[in-house]
Amino acid sequence: MSKRIAEILRSGNPGETLEIRGWVRTKRELKEFTFVEVNDGSSLANLQVVLNPELPDYSTIVKQLNTGAAVSVTGVLVESPAKGQRIELKAATLTLYGDADPETYPLQKKRHSFEFLRDIAHLRSRTNTLGAVFRVRNACATAIHQFFQERGFLWVHTPIITASDCEGAGEMFAITTLNLKDIPRTPTQDIDYTKDFFGKPAYLTVSGQLEAEIMALAFSNVYTFGPTFRAENSNTSRHLAEFWMVEPEMAFCDLQGDMDLAEAFLKHIFKYVVETCPEDMEFFNQRIDNTVLATADNIINNQFERITYTEAIDILEKADKKFDYPVEWGLDLQSEHERYITEEVFKKPVIVTNYPVGIKAFYMRLNDDGKTVAAMDVLAPKIGEIIGGSQREERLDVLEGRIKAQGLDVSNYWWYLDLRRYGSVPHAGFGLGFERAVQFMSGMGNIRDVIPFPRAPMLVDF
Ligand code: 4AD
Ligand code: MG
Repeated sequence: MSKRIAEILRSGNPGETLEIRGWVRTKRELKEFTFVEVNDGSSLANLQVVLNPELPDYSTIVKQLNTGAAVSVTGVLVESPAKGQRIELKAATLTLYGDADPETYPLQKKRHSFEFLRDIAHLRSRTNTLGAVFRVRNACATAIHQFFQERGFLWVHTPIITASDCEGAGEMFAITTLNLKDIPRTPTQDIDYTKDFFGKPAYLTVSGQLEAEIMALAFSNVYTFGPTFRAENSNTSRHLAEFWMVEPEMAFCDLQGDMDLAEAFLKHIFKYVVETCPEDMEFFNQRIDNTVLATADNIINNQFERITYTEAIDILEKADKKFDYPVEWGLDLQSEHERYITEEVFKKPVIVTNYPVGIKAFYMRLNDDGKTVAAMDVLAPKIGEIIGGSQREERLDVLEGRIKAQGLDVSNYWWYLDLRRYGSVPHAGFGLGFERAVQFMSGMGNIRDVIPFPRAPMLVDF
């Protein structure tokens, strides 16, 4: 039976006979032996396989064992006489599944730039860095489900195709089956959506929140975890057109409870990943960003800072630093402002609350001052906004007013308003950008390198 390399490196014993399957990372030919490093994706470390010339077809096999080739090897584990590894596999048989031509296989033994690797996203997962990223991404996802399931939250699946714009920002990808070369028109020359697949305009969702609210008002505590889409033309290292979002929603909960959950949540994810992926985290700390482990420690063991938006503006106004974007009460915080507050002032995550009503979405609860809403953003060093959330407006009349004030069509939100007609309660939730969380944890500089197949303006390969 074949064994995963991670398990062998962890607990394999000399004398054990077993089979491994994986891809060749490197080959070193010596006079008496050939060493081959094999990786099967289960761990950062490779298993060293020793081929000795008595092996049938030794010289033919060795010639074909190039970087990238797929093999299975059976043999016996032996203590490694050399430094660098505890055990190695002495091969008895070797099967070459698919070879990889060294003249053309793009991943040769040298450092490649992340830009180059993005162009070969179908192969880059076989590198150390992307391997570590996707194992950490998997651990993050597991930690998220564990956190909510342990607390009795129901995982709900919200739709990807929707007719409503949750954020009201008009950043939705339209979905249509209309013939774009011959669009049906109404007598007034508008697009005749009655001829379209759904009979009306439809889009890819920007957030599962509105549907999560529906479910929270039946199950009390729920969360979503799924892909979301934004047609914002942002070519930055923190934006994707398709990203995954985690959105808890809690009935009978206010902004305070929302912040407490967000903080406990981030602490839990970091703790889980540090405990389950120590080798990958160590790798990030050594090769990508030497503050990764200190940051994780800081997140797990220290309280986040909590300030209001008004206090944040005050701090920025008093800063002896020149910002590119203006600082003024009523304007949104830009990434440079968020980074100044988290990296230079507090040196840890900061939860900013009570933003001006004018810069936030219609569903956020209006505070008694009439000028701010019960919003909260969790800002992280180097990343900026990692979580956005709020207490929701549970009062029918106020909500209706907010929808109209933002120029949205109230009739589209009839069901959302119904939730305020029947059994309305204070409720709150937030959205964590999953890729930003993985970026934060790994220290990876570009969000396109923490999702297997990034989608961004002018980028939809693979
Ligand atoms: O702040 P946002 O827009 O909030 C919402 O969508 C709410 N409906 C969430 C809720 O209350 N249930 O997005 C939430 C998070 C952001 O804080 C950010 O981390 C991430 O989603 N995000 C993006 N991540 C990658 N690429 C983008 N284009 C992103 N836009 C938002
Ligand atoms: Mg936001």
